[in-house]
Amino acid sequence: TSTEDIKKGLAGVVVDYTAVSKVNPETNSLLYRGYPVQDLAASKSFEEVALLLWNGELPSQSELIEFTAFERANRTLDPAVKAAIDLLPADCHPMDVGRTAVSVIGANHSQSENSSVEAELLKSKELFAAFPAVVAYDQRRRRGLDVVPPRDDLDYAANFLWMTFGEEAAPEVVDAFRVSMVLYAEHSFNASTFTARVITSTLSDLHSAVTGAIGALKGPLHGGANEAVMHTFTEIGIDKDESREDAAKRAKAWMEEALAAKKKVMGFGHRVYKHGDSRVPTMKAALDRMIEHYGRHEMLGLYDGLEAAMDEAKSIKPNLDYPAGPTYHLMGFDTEMFTPIFIAARITGWTAHIMEQRASNALIRPLSAYNGPEQRAL
Ligand code: CMC
Repeated sequence: TSTEDIKKGLAGVVVDYTAVSKVNPETNSLLYRGYPVQDLAASKSFEEVALLLWNGELPSQSELIEFTAFERANRTLDPAVKAAIDLLPADCHPMDVGRTAVSVIGANHSQSENSSVEAELLKSKELFAAFPAVVAYDQRRRRGLDVVPPRDDLDYAANFLWMTFGEEAAPEVVDAFRVSMVLYAEHSFNASTFTARVITSTLSDLHSAVTGAIGALKGPLHGGANEAVMHTFTEIGIDKDESREDAAKRAKAWMEEALAAKKKVMGFGHRVYKHGDSRVPTMKAALDRMIEHYGRHEMLGLYDGLEAAMDEAKSIKPNLDYPAGPTYHLMGFDTEMFTPIFIAARITGWTAHIMEQRASNALIRPLSAYNGPEQRAL
């Protein structure tokens, strides 16, 4: 094996076909089943986007009504899942809670080993409906609060916020949350989706594949970046009384120190997009609406300052995690809860890929070039 044959990090390697989404770095576009993601974010509910990802087409009115009723009927936190969460330390990472919850849901599922198309789709829909209660309860228990039961007069996004905060969110907040869910839903062969496909390729079950995907999503080079962005903002320091110019100056100084220490600035850069992430303008517009809603204009000095400094120093653009992190912060989520919200969104993409992998499976098993000691005698 020559060094050129080794594609470290599988960079640039095309491993399979997918019909779920198309990323085009040249035109800076992301299509879910052919539809531009920004168009879906402008007008479709997260429930509609989930059905699009699973079925390949947007739902008819009656399909949507049927799924909406199903989703609302399957939102309650399962007592077995709550009991398992209660065994975990209140200060463990919430991604560990999410990972454990999906594992427990799988272990308790009567159809866990049934991999027929119908069973897989049903399990995907159930997980989609059940997961928000896990995030909401975990956020609450960290604050010493009890479960808030779901409300079936609210849609997915509004109910997620209701179960988390125990009060109805303003329509513009619900909308910004919906936008983030649509944008986070799917992104071709990213690390966590690929993990889910690797696990599925061994003919393992759907909940094992999602559990593994959550482990991959946790890392700061992937989903954990939205949390890391907020840690950066906190480290730079959010000062309500400061001018935008001063905040931008401090952001730039912080970045210079970080780059000098060879640190990655979280929320910037992307393996596929090299000229900007197509999802950012839509999410940034949602963040702007939240800044306006909460009257937190001081966030913009830091946001714009760091973005401009990264562009100037390295020509590196923000990715979706950059505007998403501060948006969730303004809504009132603890920083550690940001990536579990990403799980709730990406369950749709992961399960669509699991079903696609299952439909045309080949065991994913690459080769390695050995560079250890030559054969030797004991
Ligand atoms: N901060 C500072 N330098 C960076 C960054 C960054 N965020 N991203 C890339 N670079 C530099 C990197 O140091 C390297 O420079 P040089 O050639 O001088 O050594 C060059 O850009 C190429 O970077 P790379 O790490 O080899 O590129 P990659 O394709 O392997 O990395 C990435 C992609 C996302 C892992 C990387 O950009 C990164 O670590 N970003 C920060 C973490 C982050 O925001 N992740 C979220 C990704 S998007 C959402 C998601 O998938 O969850």
